[in-house]
Amino acid sequence: MKVVIPAAGLGLRFLPATKSMPKEMLPVLDRPIIQYVVEEAVDSGCDDILIVTGRAKRAVEDHFDYSPEHGDHRALGRLDELSQRANIFFVRQRRPKGLGDAVLCAARHVGDEAFGVLLGDTINICDVPLLRQLHDKFVALGGKSSVVAVDVVPDSKVSDYGIVAGDEVSPGVIEVHSLVEKPSLAEAPSRYGITGAYWLTPTIFECLRKTPPGRNGEVQLTDALKRLLEHEKLYAMTFEGTRYDIGDRFLWLKTNIEFALRDPEHGERLRSFLAEELGQAAGLRPLSRRPSELVRSD
Ligand code: G1P
Repeated sequence: MKVVIPAAGLGLRFLPATKSMPKEMLPVLDRPIIQYVVEEAVDSGCDDILIVTGRAKRAVEDHFDYSPEHGDHRALGRLDELSQRANIFFVRQRRPKGLGDAVLCAARHVGDEAFGVLLGDTINICDVPLLRQLHDKFVALGGKSSVVAVDVVPDSKVSDYGIVAGDEVSPGVIEVHSLVEKPSLAEAPSRYGITGAYWLTPTIFECLRKTPPGRNGEVQLTDALKRLLEHEKLYAMTFEGTRYDIGDRFLWLKTNIEFALRDPEHGERLRSFLAEELGQAAGLRPLSRRPSELVRSD
């Protein structure tokens, strides 16, 4: 099973941290974001992983390569296991022309089979890995129609997502009739937002080739899915689990805190540290050190 992981975005919202480092390499607790994404793909049964990179993304390739300097350090065990369970390939998107264009870079590699897409900056934590759920739904629906994961999004977030609308054909499964990329609240046909995990038929590639730049002047995958509706059925599926979209600094920080609070090694210490800090912030006890004293002024 093949999966395509677009990881070519410029990471502007993380500058200066991402000036020479890919945003997909930002750590969440002990691993870069992209490693969680590859783990999800491998745990879903994918043995062929294509990461779409771009300029200044070399670190992503190096991360999945063997490094003689670190040898078989035990912290690298999970990484080794990933490379034994799957082949990881890379292709470069030559110009940042959007998510749709990044997926189109995978056409030759994917060939004529259905495949998964996971975004390189989104971590999904589900009992059954989300990509597996999408694949299983694809098979259950006859193996001829693409399936995208969706979640109900609040009104204030509608314009951050591709929005789909259609008829619920079974619990949590919607036969899609319309899609709009990042609509205004007034234009949105529903509140079902595409979360960034897809199981697609290869017909998407011919649709992508015909899709002109859309929202933000980029080739949008959502616009190509709309075109796909002219040829095939398309389904959307809600799912059980939590999605961590690490699209900006606050979301990155929040994800780190959530993961650390659940971590057996750090959870307890972080909880008492936060309780102390929050107690101080609420004026329950005087601050022993002011934040400004922690910053060097010279
Ligand atoms: C992309 C897709 C959008 C989807 C979103 C999920 O947008 O274009 O349809 O809802 O991912 O995160 P981006 O977040 O890359 O702007």
